[in-house]
Amino acid sequence: MHINLLPEEVKSKIASGEVIEGPAECVKELLENSLDAMATRIEVEIIKGGKRFIQVKDNGLGIPSEDIKKAILSGATSKIKDIEDLQSLNTYGFRGEALHAISLVSKLLLRSRFYQEELGKEIRIEGGKIVGERLVGMPVGTHVEVYDLFYNLPVRRSFLKKEDVERRRIYKVVKALALANPSVAFVLRAEGKEILNLKPSNYLIERIEEVFGKRFEHISKEKGVFRIDLFLSLEEGEGYFLFINKRPVYNRELLDFIKRSVGKKRLCLCYLWAPPYMVDVNIHPKKTEMKIQREGKIKELIRESLGERHRYAPTFIKQELKNYMVEPEFIGIIDKTIIVAKYGDYLYFFDQHLLSERYNYEVKGKEVESACKGAIKAGDEIKERLAKDLLRSWLNFENKEVCPHGRPLYYRIYLGDIYKKLQRDY
Ligand SMILES: Nc1ncnc2c1ncn2[C@@H]1O[C@H](COP(=O)(O)OP(=O)(O)OP(=O)(O)O)[C@@H](O)[C@H]1O
Ligand SMILES: [Mg+2]
Repeated sequence: MHINLLPEEVKSKIASGEVIEGPAECVKELLENSLDAMATRIEVEIIKGGKRFIQVKDNGLGIPSEDIKKAILSGATSKIKDIEDLQSLNTYGFRGEALHAISLVSKLLLRSRFYQEELGKEIRIEGGKIVGERLVGMPVGTHVEVYDLFYNLPVRRSFLKKEDVERRRIYKVVKALALANPSVAFVLRAEGKEILNLKPSNYLIERIEEVFGKRFEHISKEKGVFRIDLFLSLEEGEGYFLFINKRPVYNRELLDFIKRSVGKKRLCLCYLWAPPYMVDVNIHPKKTEMKIQREGKIKELIRESLGERHRYAPTFIKQELKNYMVEPEFIGIIDKTIIVAKYGDYLYFFDQHLLSERYNYEVKGKEVESACKGAIKAGDEIKERLAKDLLRSWLNFENKEVCPHGRPLYYRIYLGDIYKKLQRDY
Protein backbone atom coordinates (compact mmCIF):
# COMPACT_ATOMS: atom_id res chain seq x y z
CA MET A 1 0.00 0.00 0.00
CA HIS A 2 1.08 3.57 -0.59
CA ILE A 3 2.26 5.46 2.43
CA ASN A 4 0.96 8.97 3.09
CA LEU A 5 2.62 11.49 5.31
CA LEU A 6 -0.03 13.02 7.51
CA PRO A 7 -0.18 16.81 7.64
CA GLU A 8 1.26 18.28 10.87
CA GLU A 9 -2.23 19.30 12.02
CA VAL A 10 -3.63 15.79 11.81
CA LYS A 11 -0.56 14.30 13.46
CA SER A 12 -0.78 16.62 16.44
CA LYS A 13 -4.52 16.09 16.88
CA ILE A 14 -3.91 12.36 17.07
CA ALA A 15 -1.04 12.85 19.48
CA SER A 16 -3.11 15.04 21.75
CA GLY A 17 -5.43 12.09 22.30
CA GLU A 18 -2.58 10.41 24.18
CA VAL A 19 -2.35 13.19 26.72
CA ILE A 20 -6.04 14.03 26.91
CA GLU A 21 -8.18 10.94 26.78
CA GLY A 22 -11.22 12.63 28.23
CA PRO A 23 -12.50 15.24 30.68
CA ALA A 24 -10.78 13.67 33.70
CA GLU A 25 -7.32 13.83 32.11
CA CYS A 26 -8.08 17.40 31.14
CA VAL A 27 -8.97 18.30 34.74
CA LYS A 28 -5.85 16.52 35.97
CA GLU A 29 -3.58 18.55 33.69
CA LEU A 30 -5.24 21.84 34.62
CA LEU A 31 -5.04 21.09 38.35
CA GLU A 32 -1.38 20.15 38.04
CA ASN A 33 -0.69 23.46 36.34
CA SER A 34 -2.44 25.33 39.15
CA LEU A 35 -0.44 23.43 41.75
CA ASP A 36 2.80 24.08 39.89
CA ALA A 37 1.91 27.78 39.95
CA MET A 38 1.74 27.51 43.76
CA ALA A 39 -1.97 28.18 44.06
CA THR A 40 -3.40 27.95 47.56
CA ARG A 41 -6.99 27.71 46.38
CA ILE A 42 -8.32 25.88 43.34
CA GLU A 43 -11.92 25.75 42.18
CA VAL A 44 -13.16 23.29 39.61
CA GLU A 45 -16.52 23.47 37.90
CA ILE A 46 -17.86 20.91 35.44
CA ILE A 47 -21.02 20.56 33.37
CA LYS A 48 -22.23 17.34 31.79
CA GLY A 49 -19.41 15.34 33.32
CA GLY A 50 -16.94 17.83 31.86
CA LYS A 51 -17.93 17.03 28.29
CA ARG A 52 -19.73 20.34 27.85
CA PHE A 53 -17.67 22.53 30.18
CA ILE A 54 -14.67 22.42 32.51
CA GLN A 55 -13.40 25.39 34.44
CA VAL A 56 -10.37 25.51 36.72
CA LYS A 57 -9.69 28.73 38.63
CA ASP A 58 -6.60 29.25 40.72
CA ASN A 59 -4.90 31.99 42.71
CA GLY A 60 -1.39 30.96 41.66
CA LEU A 61 1.42 33.09 40.25
CA GLY A 62 -0.23 33.57 36.87
CA ILE A 63 1.28 33.74 33.39
CA PRO A 64 3.12 36.89 32.23
CA SER A 65 0.86 38.59 29.66
CA GLU A 66 3.61 38.55 27.04
CA ASP A 67 3.91 34.75 27.44
CA ILE A 68 0.29 33.72 27.47
CA LYS A 69 0.11 32.87 23.76
CA LYS A 70 3.20 30.71 24.12
CA ALA A 71 1.47 28.58 26.76
CA ILE A 72 -0.52 26.71 24.10
CA LEU A 73 2.44 25.88 21.87
CA SER A 74 3.88 22.38 21.81
CA GLY A 75 6.97 22.07 23.99
CA ALA A 76 6.29 25.40 25.71
CA THR A 77 7.11 25.09 29.38
CA SER A 78 8.46 27.32 32.13
CA LYS A 79 9.35 24.29 34.25
CA ILE A 80 12.47 22.81 32.71
CA LYS A 81 15.15 24.15 30.41
CA ASP A 82 16.97 21.00 29.42
CA ILE A 83 17.01 17.28 29.96
CA GLU A 84 19.17 17.46 33.10
CA ASP A 85 16.45 19.41 34.87
CA LEU A 86 14.39 16.22 34.96
CA GLN A 87 16.84 14.99 37.58
CA SER A 88 15.72 17.58 40.07
CA LEU A 89 12.12 17.96 38.97
CA ASN A 90 9.76 19.21 41.63
CA THR A 91 6.81 20.19 39.47
CA TYR A 92 4.04 18.04 38.02
CA GLY A 93 4.52 19.42 34.54
CA PHE A 94 7.62 19.36 32.38
CA ARG A 95 6.63 18.42 28.80
CA GLY A 96 4.90 21.63 27.74
CA GLU A 97 2.23 19.59 26.00
CA ALA A 98 -0.94 19.69 28.11
CA LEU A 99 -2.40 23.06 27.13
CA HIS A 100 -1.30 22.50 23.57
CA ALA A 101 -3.18 19.20 23.44
CA ILE A 102 -6.30 20.64 25.07
CA SER A 103 -6.28 23.68 22.79
CA LEU A 104 -6.29 21.49 19.68
CA VAL A 105 -9.36 19.49 20.62
CA SER A 106 -11.63 22.01 22.33
CA LYS A 107 -12.75 25.61 22.52
CA LEU A 108 -10.46 27.02 25.15
CA LEU A 109 -10.39 30.21 27.13
CA LEU A 110 -7.22 31.08 29.00
CA ARG A 111 -7.27 34.06 31.31
CA SER A 112 -4.40 34.89 33.59
CA ARG A 113 -2.94 37.71 35.63
CA PHE A 114 0.73 37.45 36.52
CA TYR A 115 1.52 38.42 40.11
CA GLN A 116 3.76 41.28 39.01
CA GLU A 117 1.19 42.85 36.67
CA GLU A 118 -1.85 45.04 37.19
CA LEU A 119 -4.10 43.53 34.53
CA GLY A 120 -4.93 40.08 33.29
CA LYS A 121 -4.84 38.86 29.71
CA GLU A 122 -7.38 36.58 28.10
CA ILE A 123 -7.07 34.54 24.93
CA ARG A 124 -9.66 32.37 23.21
CA ILE A 125 -8.61 29.43 21.09
CA GLU A 126 -10.65 27.16 18.84
CA GLY A 127 -9.13 23.99 17.46
CA GLY A 128 -5.65 25.35 18.17
CA LYS A 129 -6.20 28.79 16.57
CA ILE A 130 -6.32 32.00 18.54
CA VAL A 131 -9.68 33.66 17.79
CA GLY A 132 -9.68 36.46 20.35
CA GLU A 133 -7.57 38.30 22.88
CA ARG A 134 -8.12 41.15 25.34
CA LEU A 135 -6.96 42.64 28.60
CA VAL A 136 -9.17 41.97 31.62
CA GLY A 137 -9.39 43.06 35.22
CA MET A 138 -9.03 40.04 37.51
CA PRO A 139 -7.29 38.89 40.69
CA VAL A 140 -3.81 37.35 40.41
CA GLY A 141 -4.08 33.78 39.15
CA THR A 142 -5.31 31.77 36.21
CA HIS A 143 -8.74 30.76 34.95
CA VAL A 144 -9.05 28.10 32.28
CA GLU A 145 -12.32 27.19 30.59
CA VAL A 146 -12.66 24.24 28.27
CA TYR A 147 -15.80 23.95 26.16
CA ASP A 148 -16.94 20.97 24.10
CA LEU A 149 -13.98 18.64 24.39
CA PHE A 150 -13.33 16.78 21.12
CA TYR A 151 -15.94 18.88 19.29
CA ASN A 152 -13.70 18.59 16.23
CA LEU A 153 -12.93 14.89 16.67
CA PRO A 154 -16.41 13.33 16.56
CA VAL A 155 -15.12 9.76 16.77
CA ARG A 156 -13.20 10.44 19.96
CA ARG A 157 -16.13 12.33 21.37
CA SER A 158 -18.36 9.35 20.80
CA PHE A 159 -15.95 7.24 22.85
CA LEU A 160 -16.36 9.39 25.94
CA LYS A 161 -18.09 7.64 28.82
CA LYS A 162 -21.53 8.48 30.13
CA GLU A 163 -21.77 11.74 32.04
CA ASP A 164 -21.92 10.18 35.48
CA VAL A 165 -18.95 7.93 34.71
CA GLU A 166 -16.88 10.92 33.59
CA ARG A 167 -18.02 12.84 36.67
CA ARG A 168 -16.81 10.05 38.93
CA ARG A 169 -13.44 9.94 37.16
CA ILE A 170 -13.08 13.68 37.63
CA TYR A 171 -13.97 13.36 41.29
CA LYS A 172 -11.23 10.75 41.68
CA VAL A 173 -8.66 12.97 40.01
CA VAL A 174 -9.49 15.95 42.22
CA LYS A 175 -9.52 13.75 45.32
CA ALA A 176 -6.12 12.23 44.54
CA LEU A 177 -4.43 15.60 43.99
CA ALA A 178 -6.16 17.03 47.06
CA LEU A 179 -4.82 14.15 49.14
CA ALA A 180 -1.33 14.95 47.93
CA ASN A 181 -1.63 18.70 48.57
CA PRO A 182 -3.28 19.31 51.94
CA SER A 183 -2.20 22.95 52.13
CA VAL A 184 -4.31 23.84 49.10
CA ALA A 185 -8.07 24.49 49.37
CA PHE A 186 -10.06 22.56 46.76
CA VAL A 187 -13.63 23.10 45.62
CA LEU A 188 -15.40 20.91 43.08
CA ARG A 189 -18.80 21.82 41.64
CA ALA A 190 -20.60 19.50 39.26
CA GLU A 191 -23.80 20.44 37.45
CA GLY A 192 -24.13 23.46 39.75
CA LYS A 193 -23.80 21.45 42.98
CA GLU A 194 -20.82 21.60 45.29
CA ILE A 195 -19.53 18.07 45.77
CA LEU A 196 -16.18 18.75 47.42
CA ASN A 197 -14.98 21.63 49.57
CA LEU A 198 -11.72 20.99 51.38
CA LYS A 199 -10.18 23.50 53.71
CA PRO A 200 -6.41 23.90 53.69
CA SER A 201 -4.31 22.25 56.37
CA ASN A 202 -0.62 21.84 57.02
CA TYR A 203 -1.19 18.27 58.07
CA LEU A 204 -1.70 15.35 55.75
CA ILE A 205 -3.80 13.53 58.33
CA GLU A 206 -6.33 16.36 58.56
CA ARG A 207 -6.86 16.36 54.80
CA ILE A 208 -7.11 12.58 54.72
CA GLU A 209 -9.63 12.45 57.56
CA GLU A 210 -11.68 15.20 55.96
CA VAL A 211 -11.78 13.45 52.59
CA PHE A 212 -12.73 10.04 53.94
CA GLY A 213 -14.66 11.08 57.04
CA LYS A 214 -12.79 8.44 59.08
CA ARG A 215 -10.04 8.37 61.67
CA PHE A 216 -6.56 7.24 60.62
CA GLU A 217 -3.35 6.13 62.25
CA HIS A 218 -0.01 7.33 60.97
CA ILE A 219 3.30 5.55 60.72
CA SER A 220 6.41 7.31 59.49
CA LYS A 221 9.75 5.77 58.69
CA GLU A 222 13.01 6.78 57.09
CA LYS A 223 15.59 4.58 55.48
CA GLY A 224 18.58 5.87 53.59
CA VAL A 225 17.33 8.35 51.05
CA PHE A 226 13.69 7.23 51.33
CA ARG A 227 10.99 8.29 53.69
CA ILE A 228 7.54 6.85 53.97
CA ASP A 229 4.33 8.04 55.62
CA LEU A 230 1.61 5.45 55.91
CA PHE A 231 -1.94 6.26 56.91
CA LEU A 232 -4.26 3.42 57.85
CA SER A 233 -7.95 3.83 58.57
CA LEU A 234 -8.96 2.90 62.11
CA GLU A 235 -12.43 2.11 60.83
CA GLU A 236 -13.46 -0.23 58.06
CA GLY A 237 -13.09 0.93 54.51
CA GLU A 238 -11.30 -0.16 51.42
CA GLY A 239 -8.93 1.62 49.08
CA TYR A 240 -5.21 1.89 48.42
CA PHE A 241 -3.37 4.99 47.37
CA LEU A 242 0.24 5.58 46.53
CA PHE A 243 1.94 8.94 46.18
CA ILE A 244 5.54 9.44 45.21
CA ASN A 245 6.81 12.94 45.90
CA LYS A 246 3.23 14.24 45.84
CA ARG A 247 2.41 12.56 42.56
CA PRO A 248 -0.47 10.09 42.67
CA VAL A 249 0.86 6.95 41.01
CA TYR A 250 -0.74 3.77 39.85
CA ASN A 251 2.16 1.38 40.02
CA ARG A 252 0.33 -1.94 39.92
CA GLU A 253 3.10 -3.90 41.52
CA LEU A 254 3.51 -1.60 44.51
CA LEU A 255 -0.23 -1.12 44.98
CA ASP A 256 -0.83 -4.87 44.96
CA PHE A 257 1.98 -5.26 47.43
CA ILE A 258 0.39 -2.68 49.75
CA LYS A 259 -2.98 -4.35 49.40
CA ARG A 260 -1.55 -7.74 50.28
CA SER A 261 0.40 -6.37 53.23
CA VAL A 262 -2.44 -4.33 54.71
CA GLY A 263 -5.24 -6.78 54.12
CA LYS A 264 -8.81 -6.06 53.17
CA LYS A 265 -11.25 -3.71 54.84
CA ARG A 266 -8.71 -1.01 55.41
CA LEU A 267 -8.03 2.25 53.68
CA CYS A 268 -4.34 2.75 53.21
CA LEU A 269 -2.50 5.78 51.90
CA CYS A 270 1.18 5.48 51.31
CA TYR A 271 3.27 8.60 50.75
CA LEU A 272 6.76 7.94 49.56
CA TRP A 273 9.42 10.62 49.45
CA ALA A 274 12.50 9.97 47.35
CA PRO A 275 15.14 12.20 45.78
CA PRO A 276 13.82 13.27 42.35
CA TYR A 277 16.74 11.61 40.59
CA MET A 278 15.57 8.21 41.82
CA VAL A 279 12.20 8.35 40.11
CA ASP A 280 11.52 8.69 36.43
CA VAL A 281 8.10 10.05 35.48
CA ASN A 282 8.87 10.42 31.85
CA ILE A 283 7.94 6.92 30.80
CA HIS A 284 4.20 7.38 30.42
CA PRO A 285 2.41 10.08 28.40
CA LYS A 286 -0.04 10.58 31.23
CA LYS A 287 2.73 10.54 33.81
CA THR A 288 0.79 8.19 36.08
CA GLU A 289 3.25 5.36 35.94
CA MET A 290 6.70 5.84 37.29
CA LYS A 291 9.86 3.95 36.99
CA ILE A 292 11.40 3.66 40.40
CA GLN A 293 14.86 2.51 41.21
CA ARG A 294 15.21 0.08 44.08
CA GLU A 295 11.59 -1.00 44.26
CA GLY A 296 12.72 -3.75 46.60
CA LYS A 297 13.94 -1.21 49.17
CA ILE A 298 10.59 0.53 49.05
CA LYS A 299 8.72 -2.70 49.68
CA GLU A 300 11.00 -3.41 52.62
CA LEU A 301 10.22 0.01 54.02
CA ILE A 302 6.46 -0.51 53.63
CA ARG A 303 6.67 -3.92 55.29
CA GLU A 304 8.69 -2.59 58.20
CA SER A 305 6.38 0.39 58.74
CA LEU A 306 3.35 -1.88 58.79
CA GLY A 307 5.10 -4.06 61.32
CA GLU A 308 5.24 -1.08 63.64
CA ARG A 309 1.64 -0.07 63.46
CA HIS A 310 0.48 -1.71 66.66
CA ARG A 311 2.99 0.10 68.80
CA TYR A 312 0.76 3.12 68.71
CA ALA A 313 -2.21 3.37 71.00
CA PRO A 314 -4.94 4.89 68.81
CA THR A 315 -5.98 7.51 71.37
CA PHE A 316 -2.57 9.15 71.34
CA ILE A 317 -2.18 9.18 67.62
CA LYS A 318 -3.80 12.49 66.93
CA GLN A 319 -1.47 14.27 69.30
CA GLU A 320 1.67 12.75 67.88
CA LEU A 321 0.58 13.63 64.40
CA LYS A 322 0.14 17.28 65.14
CA ASN A 323 3.84 17.73 64.62
CA TYR A 324 3.91 16.12 61.26
CA MET A 325 3.85 18.47 58.32
CA VAL A 326 4.18 17.99 54.63
CA GLU A 327 6.32 21.01 54.12
CA PRO A 328 7.88 23.73 56.23
CA GLU A 329 5.38 26.25 57.50
CA PHE A 330 6.57 29.74 56.67
CA ILE A 331 6.47 32.04 59.69
CA GLY A 332 8.29 35.17 58.64
CA ILE A 333 11.53 36.87 57.74
CA ILE A 334 13.75 38.60 60.31
CA ASP A 335 15.96 41.56 59.36
CA LYS A 336 15.58 40.79 55.64
CA THR A 337 18.08 38.01 56.31
CA ILE A 338 16.63 35.06 58.18
CA ILE A 339 13.68 33.00 57.05
CA VAL A 340 11.82 31.50 59.99
CA ALA A 341 9.81 28.32 59.50
CA LYS A 342 8.33 25.50 61.51
CA TYR A 343 8.97 21.99 60.32
CA GLY A 344 8.44 18.76 62.17
CA ASP A 345 9.39 19.27 65.81
CA TYR A 346 11.68 22.22 65.15
CA LEU A 347 11.69 25.92 64.60
CA TYR A 348 14.12 26.66 61.78
CA PHE A 349 16.12 29.81 61.08
CA PHE A 350 17.41 29.77 57.52
CA ASP A 351 19.97 32.13 56.10
CA GLN A 352 18.19 33.45 52.99
CA HIS A 353 21.43 33.99 51.09
CA LEU A 354 22.78 30.50 51.75
CA LEU A 355 19.46 28.84 51.02
CA SER A 356 19.22 30.63 47.71
CA GLU A 357 22.84 29.80 46.95
CA ARG A 358 22.24 26.10 47.58
CA TYR A 359 19.12 26.35 45.38
CA ASN A 360 21.11 27.82 42.49
CA TYR A 361 23.73 25.15 42.94
CA GLU A 362 21.46 22.11 43.21
CA VAL A 363 18.30 22.97 41.35
CA LYS A 364 19.70 25.24 38.66
CA GLY A 365 22.96 23.31 38.43
CA LYS A 366 25.20 26.39 38.61
CA GLU A 367 28.88 26.34 39.53
CA VAL A 368 29.71 27.36 43.10
CA GLU A 369 30.80 30.88 42.22
CA SER A 370 27.89 31.75 39.96
CA ALA A 371 25.48 30.08 42.39
CA CYS A 372 26.71 32.56 44.98
CA LYS A 373 26.72 35.60 42.68
CA GLY A 374 23.19 34.99 41.43
CA ALA A 375 21.80 34.37 44.90
CA ILE A 376 19.61 36.59 47.04
CA LYS A 377 21.76 38.61 49.45
CA ALA A 378 21.29 39.21 53.14
CA GLY A 379 19.37 42.48 53.36
CA ASP A 380 17.46 41.93 50.12
CA GLU A 381 13.74 42.34 50.59
CA ILE A 382 12.13 39.21 49.19
CA LYS A 383 8.52 38.28 48.55
CA GLU A 384 6.86 35.79 50.86
CA ARG A 385 6.19 33.63 47.80
CA LEU A 386 9.87 33.36 47.04
CA ALA A 387 10.71 32.45 50.63
CA LYS A 388 8.05 29.73 50.57
CA ASP A 389 9.33 28.47 47.26
CA LEU A 390 12.86 28.21 48.66
CA LEU A 391 11.58 26.36 51.72
CA ARG A 392 9.74 23.93 49.52
CA SER A 393 12.79 23.27 47.35
CA TRP A 394 14.91 22.78 50.44
CA LEU A 395 12.96 19.57 51.08
CA ASN A 396 14.29 18.14 47.85
CA PHE A 397 17.87 19.28 48.28
CA GLU A 398 20.31 16.47 48.23
CA ASN A 399 22.29 18.32 50.86
CA LYS A 400 19.91 20.09 53.22
CA GLU A 401 22.60 21.06 55.71
CA VAL A 402 25.26 23.29 54.19
CA CYS A 403 25.80 25.79 51.39
CA PRO A 404 28.26 24.96 48.57
CA HIS A 405 31.03 26.61 50.65
CA GLY A 406 30.19 24.53 53.69
CA ARG A 407 28.39 27.09 55.85
CA PRO A 408 25.27 25.79 57.64
CA LEU A 409 21.98 26.63 55.93
CA TYR A 410 20.05 26.90 59.16
CA TYR A 411 20.00 26.87 62.93
CA ARG A 412 17.09 25.12 64.58
CA ILE A 413 15.51 24.84 68.00
CA TYR A 414 13.59 21.83 69.26
CA LEU A 415 10.02 22.92 69.95
CA GLY A 416 9.94 20.67 72.99
CA ASP A 417 12.66 22.88 74.53
CA ILE A 418 10.63 26.01 73.93
CA TYR A 419 7.60 24.40 75.53
CA LYS A 420 9.75 23.29 78.46
CA LYS A 421 11.01 26.82 79.05
CA LEU A 422 7.42 27.98 79.08
CA GLN A 423 6.59 25.18 81.51
CA ARG A 424 4.19 23.51 79.16
CA ASP A 425 3.93 19.90 78.03
CA TYR A 426 4.97 19.19 74.49
N1 LIG B 1 -2.58 27.66 36.02
C1 LIG B 1 -1.41 28.16 35.57
N2 LIG B 1 -0.78 29.12 36.27
C2 LIG B 1 0.40 29.64 35.82
N3 LIG B 1 1.02 29.24 34.68
C3 LIG B 1 0.43 28.29 33.95
C4 LIG B 1 -0.81 27.69 34.35
N4 LIG B 1 -1.15 26.79 33.41
C5 LIG B 1 -0.17 26.80 32.50
N5 LIG B 1 0.78 27.70 32.80
C6 LIG B 1 2.00 28.01 32.02
O1 LIG B 1 1.87 27.45 30.74
C7 LIG B 1 2.91 26.52 30.47
C8 LIG B 1 2.36 25.38 29.63
O2 LIG B 1 1.48 24.56 30.39
P1 LIG B 1 1.37 23.02 30.02
O3 LIG B 1 0.54 22.33 31.00
O4 LIG B 1 1.00 22.93 28.58
O5 LIG B 1 2.88 22.52 30.14
P2 LIG B 1 3.72 22.11 31.42
O6 LIG B 1 2.89 22.17 32.63
O7 LIG B 1 4.94 22.98 31.42
O8 LIG B 1 4.12 20.62 31.07
P3 LIG B 1 3.12 19.34 30.95
O9 LIG B 1 2.75 19.19 29.52
O10 LIG B 1 3.96 18.21 31.45
O11 LIG B 1 1.93 19.62 31.80
C9 LIG B 1 3.43 26.09 31.81
O12 LIG B 1 4.78 25.66 31.76
C10 LIG B 1 3.25 27.38 32.63
O13 LIG B 1 4.32 28.24 32.43
MG1 LIG C 1 1.08 21.16 32.76
